[in-house]
Amino acid sequence: MDLDALFNDDYDFFYAAQLTPAIDARDVDSVWRALQPQRGQTVLDLACGSGRLAAPLAARGLCMHGVDASAGMLARARARCGDRVALRQLDMRELDEREAYDHAFNWFTSLTYFEDAVIADVLARVARALRPGGRFAIDLPQRDAVAARFRPCVAVERDGHLMIDLCRFDTLRGRVDTERVVVRDGVRRASFFIRLPTPNELAAWLYRAGFAEVVFTDLDGRGLGLQSWHMVAVATR
Ligand SMILES: C[S@@+](CC[C@H](N)C(=O)[O-])C[C@H]1O[C@@H](n2cnc3c(N)ncnc32)[C@H](O)[C@@H]1O
Repeated sequence: MDLDALFNDDYDFFYAAQLTPAIDARDVDSVWRALQPQRGQTVLDLACGSGRLAAPLAARGLCMHGVDASAGMLARARARCGDRVALRQLDMRELDEREAYDHAFNWFTSLTYFEDAVIADVLARVARALRPGGRFAIDLPQRDAVAARFRPCVAVERDGHLMIDLCRFDTLRGRVDTERVVVRDGVRRASFFIRLPTPNELAAWLYRAGFAEVVFTDLDGRGLGLQSWHMVAVATR
């Protein structure tokens, strides 16, 4: 995946309608509910993006750290968070810390851009980076809901500009392959896939990574159902 081709000014422009302050506030509440942190605890936002969650969580009294592989996204996070969040550029595949955080989270479909063995390795790295009893919360689209409402072409229009996702649901591999075409002062293309594990698959990876307990809810803390678009996994080390 070419990070700069995906997470750039086009991303900010087209996702602005989706990532509103109300959605940010909803997600902050979801992270808080999932992690149940104590004020003052050290929490890692893995793939923190623009810092839209790290900044308000720091304001709630957590000692926030954020990592992201994209220099552009980190620059946005620095502008938003100032020195209230410890930010650094890091590919999560190279996370290499021992018992450095009380809790960690990975939000808004930021974990499954890789082949399964790589995802499993990242989960093991997160487990090692957490203190015993620490929780790791993951937010991903819920595969059954995505499959039930699958559309091969999704277009977003803003001010006459277009972002068109041409999607293929790969049932065998459990992932969606996307060719994104942005028509905005020129035409730009990017390809990526998102692996959509079932709860069973994700739980198996998490247990193998060293987590002792895994529970699943929707974004509001309710039980998962066919209609749940989000799947939140909370794994305890
Ligand atoms: C969809 S955005 C979500 C950002 C943030 N979690 C949020 O909720 O807004 C995905 C983020 O994952 C980051 N990312 C992608 N691959 C990564 C990797 N290998 N290591 C660290 N960050 C990565 C991207 O740079 C981008 O900021």
